[in-house]
Amino acid sequence: MCCVCVCVCVCAGVFPALPGQMQRPLASSYPSLQPVYQNVSGMQTQMQMQTHPSLASLSLQSQPPEALRVINLLQERSLLPAGSVPPPVPCLPQDLQKLSCSPEVFRCTLTSIPQTQSLLNKAKLPLGLLLHPFKDLSQLPVVTSSNIVRCRSCRTYINPFVTFLDARRWKCNLCHRVNDVPEEFMYNPVSRLYGAPHKRPEVQNATIEFIAPSEYMLRPPQPAVYLFILDVSHNAVETGYLDVFCQTLLESLDSLPGDTRTKIGFITFDSTIHFYNLQEGLSQPQMLIVSDIDDVFLPTPDSLLVNLSESKELVQDLLASLPQMFGQTMETQSALGPALQAAFKLLSPTGGRMSVFQTQLPTIGIGALKPREEPSHRANAKVTFCLVPITDLFSLALSLNISKCCGLCLWKLTIDLSSPPEGCISRYSAGSVYFYPSYHKQHSPPQTERLQKDLKRYLTRKIGFEAVMRIRCTKGLSIHTFHGNFFVRSTDLLSLANVNPDAGFAVQMSIEENLLDLQTVSFQAALLYTSSKGERRIRVHTLCLPVVTSLSDIFAGADVQAITALLASMAVDRCVTASLSDARDSLINAAIDTLASYRSSVLTVPQPGLLTPACLRLLPLYILALLKHKAFRTSGGRLDERVFAMFQLKQQPLAFLLMMVHPGLYRVDQLTDEGALNINDRMIPQPRALQLSVEKLSRDAAFLMDCGTVMYLWVGRNCSPVFLTQVLGADSYADVPLNMIQLPELDTAQSSRLRAFVDWLRERRPFHAVLHVIRDESPLKTEFMQNMIEDLSESALSYYEFLLHLQQQISK
Ligand SMILES: *[C@@H]1O[C@H](CO)[C@@H](O)[C@H](O)[C@H]1NC(C)=O
Ligand SMILES: *[C@@H]1O[C@H](CO)[C@@H](O)[C@H](O)[C@H]1NC(C)=O
Ligand SMILES: *[C@@H]1O[C@H](CO)[C@@H](O)[C@H](O)[C@H]1NC(C)=O
Ligand SMILES: *[C@@H]1O[C@H](CO)[C@@H](O)[C@H](O)[C@H]1NC(C)=O
Ligand SMILES: [Zn+2]
Repeated sequence: MCCVCVCVCVCAGVFPALPGQMQRPLASSYPSLQPVYQNVSGMQTQMQMQTHPSLASLSLQSQPPEALRVINLLQERSLLPAGSVPPPVPCLPQDLQKLSCSPEVFRCTLTSIPQTQSLLNKAKLPLGLLLHPFKDLSQLPVVTSSNIVRCRSCRTYINPFVTFLDARRWKCNLCHRVNDVPEEFMYNPVSRLYGAPHKRPEVQNATIEFIAPSEYMLRPPQPAVYLFILDVSHNAVETGYLDVFCQTLLESLDSLPGDTRTKIGFITFDSTIHFYNLQEGLSQPQMLIVSDIDDVFLPTPDSLLVNLSESKELVQDLLASLPQMFGQTMETQSALGPALQAAFKLLSPTGGRMSVFQTQLPTIGIGALKPREEPSHRANAKVTFCLVPITDLFSLALSLNISKCCGLCLWKLTIDLSSPPEGCISRYSAGSVYFYPSYHKQHSPPQTERLQKDLKRYLTRKIGFEAVMRIRCTKGLSIHTFHGNFFVRSTDLLSLANVNPDAGFAVQMSIEENLLDLQTVSFQAALLYTSSKGERRIRVHTLCLPVVTSLSDIFAGADVQAITALLASMAVDRCVTASLSDARDSLINAAIDTLASYRSSVLTVPQPGLLTPACLRLLPLYILALLKHKAFRTSGGRLDERVFAMFQLKQQPLAFLLMMVHPGLYRVDQLTDEGALNINDRMIPQPRALQLSVEKLSRDAAFLMDCGTVMYLWVGRNCSPVFLTQVLGADSYADVPLNMIQLPELDTAQSSRLRAFVDWLRERRPFHAVLHVIRDESPLKTEFMQNMIEDLSESALSYYEFLLHLQQQISK
């Protein structure tokens, strides 16, 4: 079992709420200050300079008119923002903006919240939150406190949006209960001043982390435990992945997050299960084979998960010899189910992370599967079988309670065209799914590069164990649906056996009770986890948004990126509960409904054309991009790729999701330092993002397309010889190799500019993007062209046709 956030119940009668209490300025109401820490001169200054924003002072500044500038999409074509960075989040009222969480961590589809559900219904915009709660942050205030201050009524953590009635009492921004300020909180450890609770870091930072006292633990924090479950059947060994895995883990062994308690273990499987005794003192690792897969037992339960620092040499020995040990294997069966069963037995006492490497379907023992994709079922078939719990393997994982104790990450290196992805296990255990279709070490060097880099990140990135995340919001709002990889424990509580810094979540919200008399509402996400160093920590993010009563204010605050991400998650669910065509319709209807509502309810003067407010100008384009995305496109594609694409839409944080949905296209043969970013004396060119249309290409230039996990450098037939020689090191167009995946490090300004740009793009994401240099003859040209979202394709409308279609539907 995971640790649960233990709430300390205190009888509410002891601290009576003071509902009728008027809000008074802080300066006039310091009744009795303890003399102990008192520094009178310091305090007086503080009182005069009191800057804490009382919510009363949060005047709703009128939204910038730019957000509502009317745009006729049929006429205005250059919609993409200048520069290569995505457009900024809509403006919040300044007071809130200053205090709120970074939009990269926590944001809402509507930055102005409708007062009532009926207003929301009328706007036809989705209401929801996008979270990247465990994101790597360069600055994170960490507070150690024996008494974490929370609302006695709703358990909200004190945050920048609470109101201090006076130095002794604060009013919760979620439930409005008045709470006492505990004595310890009067002292500010940062400024070392007494009597200024509003200056505490908890009240200054909307993202904060607490080191939790013991009441936040059900049991002592467990060590970091890593269990690797490796497919060693003939099929698997033949792909060569085992070399890559062993090499990468060997190199990363010292950087696995953890401390001296960290434990590690390995299980390999083909038709039988193999365990490895790595107990300190042995001269070499001992392999133990269990061939009774119907009744798997642990041969030496105490020496299979070992102290990494004590057994490091044995682990290194094992990793060095594993690839050869199975080099000659002729075993073709896969007993993945029984291997998982064994893994669970091993991990259930402590929890931890299971990393499963799989190249084929489980064929024998519990959980064996038959290929399910009939040729006639391709693409258009319902994708129900994976995303809902009906696969045998998934039920197995559930019945084994795997998701309750450990994170399960699936590395799928499939070479089986017809395999249904089993990622559903991961979905319910806060794991991740990685997918390298047709992986082969020799035949596909780009895949190997990706596997290596992704694996390195996976092994060394931060990890939290035994996590739960609770999302609280102002009374009246409620959580409708969660999207992401987790296990829903109750209406607002998610159980995450592991949490990693690369996972995103989406939450759909509804307005259950009108938000009358409220100027603002707040959302708070609290993630309780055990760090790899065995500390129980709580990371808290708080977002506060204004409540508005007019449709135009709602529209003015629409965040088109967040809306797109939420719609994408909702459409994936739609594929599962209904069908692909339903999901596609729901996306198209979202665009139609929103623009129709805008036209009928916000625009006062009738105008011709397809009109949007400026802040939503990219909505039809993003919707079309989703319709052409691997997850939702109608034509072709392998089923496992489609399902994986759906996982991506559900598990990627917003910024990365957008990269995958709407690739960036840049002309790169004439990069200059003009407008370049200067990062640590590195000049990063910032070419303008272009529309995704063949029209934008020209034969005498070169273009970079960034699709998230892959980049293409398309070189035009008449591209300048200077670029060819100085950047690609090729004498002529025909000389550009067809399978080039690396830019040569040439000592020219053009070469370093392009490499700086590519490196910079790559650094901005947690997964690896392979770069393919392509020209007209390249086999990958089709893939490149498929991303030209604005163009007509065999099975899909061009952007302009799509706009006409929307217009037609709206004027019906
Ligand atoms: C009291 O506060 C003032 C103003 O912040 C500061 O200059 C002074 O050093 C403080 N005195 C003590 C004893 O901390
Ligand atoms: C926390 O808040 C303080 C005061 O507003 C600010 O100076 C500091 O940069 C914040 N820290 C982070 C990590 O945002
Ligand atoms: C693991 O090994 C290290 C190094 O020998 C030791 O300091 C530590 O106490 C061990 N941990 C446990 C839990 O045995
Ligand atoms: C899974 O958990 C349930 C409820 O906690 C329990 O009844 C069941 O026996 C568990 N199954 C296994 C295989 O441990
Ligand atoms: Zn409260």
